[in-house]
Amino acid sequence: MRVFLCLMVLVISLKLTAATEYYTLAYRNDPATTAVIGWSGDNGTVHYGPVDHATNFTAYPNTHPSDRTGGAHSITRHFARLSGLQPNTIYYFVIRDLNGDVSERLYFRTLSNDVDDPVSFISGGDTRDGFSLFGIYTENCPSGNCLDKRRDGNKLVAKIRPDFIAFTGDFVMNQITSNTQSEWSTWLNDWQMTITDDGRIFPVAFSRGNHEDMFDVHEMFDIPFDEFYALNIHGGLIRLYMLNSELNACSDMSQLNWLTNDFQMHTGTLNDPCWKFVSYHTPTLAIGKDGDLSADQMNCWIPLFEQHKVRLVMESDSHSTKWTYPSIRNNAGNDFIPAQNPHEGVVYIGEGQWGAPHRDIYYTGSNAKDFVQDAGTFDNFFFVRVTKDTTTIRCVKFENVNGVFNNIEDNLGGGLPSNIVLWNPQNGDQIILTKPIDVTGIEEMVTLKSQVFPTIISDECTVQFNEKVQSVDIEIYNSLGKLTTSTVVQNQESTIIKLNGLSAGVYYLIVKYENGSAESHTVVIE
Ligand SMILES: [Fe+2]
Repeated sequence: MRVFLCLMVLVISLKLTAATEYYTLAYRNDPATTAVIGWSGDNGTVHYGPVDHATNFTAYPNTHPSDRTGGAHSITRHFARLSGLQPNTIYYFVIRDLNGDVSERLYFRTLSNDVDDPVSFISGGDTRDGFSLFGIYTENCPSGNCLDKRRDGNKLVAKIRPDFIAFTGDFVMNQITSNTQSEWSTWLNDWQMTITDDGRIFPVAFSRGNHEDMFDVHEMFDIPFDEFYALNIHGGLIRLYMLNSELNACSDMSQLNWLTNDFQMHTGTLNDPCWKFVSYHTPTLAIGKDGDLSADQMNCWIPLFEQHKVRLVMESDSHSTKWTYPSIRNNAGNDFIPAQNPHEGVVYIGEGQWGAPHRDIYYTGSNAKDFVQDAGTFDNFFFVRVTKDTTTIRCVKFENVNGVFNNIEDNLGGGLPSNIVLWNPQNGDQIILTKPIDVTGIEEMVTLKSQVFPTIISDECTVQFNEKVQSVDIEIYNSLGKLTTSTVVQNQESTIIKLNGLSAGVYYLIVKYENGSAESHTVVIE
């Protein structure tokens, strides 16, 4: 009898570990037609289709085996990269594992490919637990357990039903003193709280924080291998850049070259999105923690953002909260100042309080920054709703979670549910951005009178004019706005500019015509 019971326990435990679990949905390509279903446990096949057949897997018209098995920290992850999906369509799916066991039925909605459709998403990060020594927290988790607040945030995701989530990194502690496998398992288990009672699972654009090892996010969720990428939301409504702030902003040329090229392909061309947003982990100028400035990001990313009319940047890491006025880099390149023309500036939001230990605001009183509209310390994430004309940003506090009603609609671009608790600091409970990229400006820019190639330069580049120019000045400025070289071109259709004496980085090549007009080209020197 005892042997029989032992066998029974063994069979049951084998059954438990063999089943699929820890479901995630990630973006690595076009959100209108693709999605990556991730899971742990046994390998298997996804059965899916636009009609709900509950767990009757044979009734679904499509099957897709896992394309890749990855994982990290002794956690196995399987990924099925679905493609060829219909935009703005609900797909139901189950995963049938190798033993024939079928998962619960889940469903998701693809994004649209129509810029006229609104979209709503959650931006947030820093879900890690507080550091504890012998079970005693040495960091400030006011609720007594940071994971309780992370779970509150996850439950709010299910109640809000966003179209997707832009996650800004720092999932778990992942340090020598912590049990990383256990932490990741708990994180993945907690993430299941974001799934609604009726089985809707939300896609995530994941990015990497400083608590992740290189490739952790790729291995856990199947984001692209480099861990930086851009997503085309609603066929050109938003170009969303997910950057990797663990790669040096100036010296990692793979990310910088890609970013420069991608911005150029989406500025002044027919590919221009209505909005460009950027999401990454480490703030360029942290309002919390030690108020650190990332000089490399300030020098090599921010000028690109400003030139290419990025309007919203989402940051994390400091475990405090801010939203700023539309802002620009100051002349010295060591601070931000409010933009004179708000349409020229970038709004920065962050900085990562999805449950992580609380930290105080660094810049307060007479040291408070003029460009920061409001700052505070509390558990939260941001809710961003975007149309062609307007971006509305609100900050959801992790309070009264059980009292928040459930949104029940699955339409794209939904609003917040009743009873949600919003941050309502002295300057109001929302930020509204208007005027996306000016269409008339696009038409003007399409008819540029000069072109530069290549834009990623090892020693020289060519400036080609549409017609022979009488006399133009060509000036090259570095990312700090300092003139590094200039030349005059007369009676030519093209000229070669030697740049081999300049150090690597982002530069601006300005062509000044006799009539006073000027054109700007961004180039990167390797
Ligand atoms: Fe961090």
